[in-house]
Amino acid sequence: MVDNIRPLSGDDIPAIIEMTENVWGGNDYVSVALEFWLKDPNSNPSVVERQGEVIGVANVRMMDGKRTGWMEGIRVHPEHRNEGLGRELTAYMVRQAKSMGAKRVRLITAFRNVAAVKLAGDAGLRPILSMNAFWKGGLSEINWSNNEGDVSRIDAEELTDVIADHQALIPEGVLVYHWDAVDADATGLESASSETDYWITQRDEEVVAISTGLVFVSPREREWFATVYPSDSSSFLRSFSHHLGLALENECDTLVSIHPPRYTSLYEEEEVLKERPHEIEIGLFEMGLED
Ligand SMILES: CC(C)(COP(=O)(O)OP(=O)(O)OC[C@H]1O[C@@H](n2cnc3c(N)ncnc32)[C@H](O)[C@@H]1OP(=O)(O)O)[C@@H](O)C(=O)NCCC(=O)NCCS
Repeated sequence: MVDNIRPLSGDDIPAIIEMTENVWGGNDYVSVALEFWLKDPNSNPSVVERQGEVIGVANVRMMDGKRTGWMEGIRVHPEHRNEGLGRELTAYMVRQAKSMGAKRVRLITAFRNVAAVKLAGDAGLRPILSMNAFWKGGLSEINWSNNEGDVSRIDAEELTDVIADHQALIPEGVLVYHWDAVDADATGLESASSETDYWITQRDEEVVAISTGLVFVSPREREWFATVYPSDSSSFLRSFSHHLGLALENECDTLVSIHPPRYTSLYEEEEVLKERPHEIEIGLFEMGLED
């Protein structure tokens, strides 16, 4: 069978929405990302077409000051999985990123997504960092807050200086926000600031945590995505409390909290974290493209 990989067009959207309707229990962001990818000059979405039918989709987005080809949204029609299409699309995205001058390709996936981890590994990407993410719903009913420390919003330039002085807070020097990541330097933080805001948490005038936050409108609901980089449990809780407030202010139904893995021990220790409808361990995978 001859498959054609070609750019996504607006006419493909209904078929892709149908193809992805059962992914992630019906909450697949790809259905809402398609229109954005078509408009975004940095996105290069492709589809696999077989005999006139669209059976695969993926996007590679130039980001982080065009240093990274970000591989995202790979989906293969359920009836055509395990035929090698995922592998073909992955290789295609790597070639695209290379031809656009990216220094590296990166992607984020859940470690438990065996197929996605295999695709990344077979293409030559290696995990460079892991984070945990958990979902918290029913935000308006949460009767808890933590005010031990001050949280203030800062811009990308200020954050660049803060991180330069507190490098241990950001593992591998890569800042994760939503399901994206940039190098935590001036270029990366400036480029990500078009999508996410930044905060620092201070205690006795010392920076004890850094966090990011943004609203994401998924197919089902408004979600507040917060990544918290704390220095200890109490700065995690102070920052988490701040983001609960921001989630409510921004009329979000759900808070998705991303953080370095060592803070998972708090899940059982802290009453407010005990109920988590969903949680995953995510990996940031990377492959350099420079010769
Ligand atoms: C992930 C996905 C894109 C894989 O596409 P695919 O076309 O089925 O993948 P391929 O046929 O190219 O398979 C590549 C390799 O992964 C393996 N694989 C595929 N699905 C697998 C699964 N569910 N469990 C274990 N291995 C799997 C294949 O066996 C193959 O390895 P092999 O050649 O050594 O046997 C597809 O399963 C999908 O759309 N899933 C839902 C969305 C998703 O999870 N996307 C990735 C999120 S980041």
